Amino acid sequence: MDCRILIANGVNLDLLGKREPDIYGAFTLPQVEKTIENSTKGLAKLVGFDAIQLSFFQSNQEGEFFAKISQNWDGILINPGAWSHTSLALADRLKAVNIPYVEVHLSNISAREPIRHKSLCASSAAGVVYGLGLDSYLTGLYALLLKVYSSKSGLQP
Ligand code: DQA
Repeated sequence: MDCRILIANGVNLDLLGKREPDIYGAFTLPQVEKTIENSTKGLAKLVGFDAIQLSFFQSNQEGEFFAKISQNWDGILINPGAWSHTSLALADRLKAVNIPYVEVHLSNISAREPIRHKSLCASSAAGVVYGLGLDSYLTGLYALLLKVYSSKSGLQP
C-alpha cells in the first residue's frame, strides 16, 4: 500500500536557522525536510506501507497554503506557525478538506506567551505534537502514518 503525505510549513518557517535559534533551533527548513525524508523509509517499513510519497511545501501566503492543503493527500503533517493562533480561516479549511492531519510545533507553545497556548487548528487535528524541536516532526509523522494506515487498511474509520 502506498501513501501520499504533504508536509506543510506555514508563515515564517522559511526563516528557520536565522530566526530566534534559541527557540526554534539552528537548522534550516531544507535541513528539516531532508531529515524527514531520510527517516521516511524506516517509518514506512515500521508502519506497513510499501512506499510513502512526501511532498514538501512552505508558504507565507494563506491562499496558496489553502490551495495546497486542498489537494488529494492521504494525510498532512502541518506546522501552521503563527497562523495556528490567529487564523480561523485555516482552521475552517483544515476541517473542511477532511484529510487527517497532525499539527506540529518546534517549540513548547504551552510554555510561551499566553497567545501561543491555544491553536485554533488543534481541535480538528488527529493529534498535536510540540516542544520536541525537529523531533516534533518525526514523532508527528510516525503518528500520522499509523493513523492513515489504519484507515486505509480498514482497521479504523
Ligand atoms: C511555531 C510556534 C508558533 O507560535 C510560532 O508563531 C511559529 C513557530 C513552532 O514551530 O514552534 O512560527 O509554530
